Amino acid sequence: MRQKITVVGAGQVGATCAQRLAERDYADVVLVDIVEGLPQGKVLDMNQSGPIVGYEPNHTGAGDYEEASGSDIVIITSGSPRKPGMSRDDLLEVNKSIVGDVAGQIAEKAPDATVIVVTNPLDAMCHAAYDALGFPRQRVIGMAGILDSARFRTFIAWELGVSARDVTGFVLGGHGDTMVPVVSYTSVAGVPIRQLLEDERIEEIVQRTRDGGAEVGKLLQTGSAFYAPSAAVAEMVDSIVLDQKRILPCAALCQGEYDIDGLFVGVPVRLGHDGIEEILQIELTDEERSGLSHSADSVRELVDAMAKL
Ligand code: APR
Repeated sequence: MRQKITVVGAGQVGATCAQRLAERDYADVVLVDIVEGLPQGKVLDMNQSGPIVGYEPNHTGAGDYEEASGSDIVIITSGSPRKPGMSRDDLLEVNKSIVGDVAGQIAEKAPDATVIVVTNPLDAMCHAAYDALGFPRQRVIGMAGILDSARFRTFIAWELGVSARDVTGFVLGGHGDTMVPVVSYTSVAGVPIRQLLEDERIEEIVQRTRDGGAEVGKLLQTGSAFYAPSAAVAEMVDSIVLDQKRILPCAALCQGEYDIDGLFVGVPVRLGHDGIEEILQIELTDEERSGLSHSADSVRELVDAMAKL
């Protein structure tokens, strides 16, 4: 049976997600936004590409959550971008309210859904969604690690002149300046990256990865990345819908894993039909472990700041 997937937020990330998922043709997509006509218009256009691209034009745009009833998966991309003069706390407050409100509606209309959070600041927004949803931790997942890892893998592929598909690597920790690209597990066709690149060059690539979102945003001037973020969401959705059990870096609520308790942090998870089926605990070098702990501290700071708003 076809799945029902609701994407909340018909902006750059949400609409691109909807399009990527429509092209999979395994689900009917419901796109929701508060801007009147925006989700309806984008979905009408999306449906009309069905006959050309080759998928069923069964998608719906909506201004409320009626159509989202019984969704199997919900993707939250709704949010306000950071505007000039807005402090980090202002953005936290606005997006906490948007994500909390959306999650409350989802809890009512789609109580069995697996929810993927995309809105930034990601780790804090996972908490906002988790609190409002009241779902088990297996069904609340943040998208960040796949995106950060894809940036890391792209830069390595360019550096070595090899196919990006042969570069394995992943990024753990919070989705911010403290993220931890895990160099010890990064390889090209199985060959450890440290055998292929000098430490100094690896460090430059790690830094470019940390600044990856800002680099795109600076070029765009208005708005932020959406092609790679939506591709990352689609990879997560594939793993859930098709029960692929991919091992992917995602923000998950840690409860003691990696000595992190009660925080959403990017960790390797096994994603399948039931959402997060396992948080994999891999051995890290001392430096990576302390990097992860430092990153968890900054997530904690953000979550504490949000709690005071
Ligand atoms: N309910 C539904 N939609 C909402 C709500 C709400 N309460 N509040 C805002 N929106 C919608 C806006 O109307 C807008 O169409 O969310 C959409 C956000 O789209 P964009 O501004 O284009 O932002 P986008 O680039 O898609 O990024 C969305 O993902 O990667 C993150 O940092 C990014 O937090 C941002 C989010």
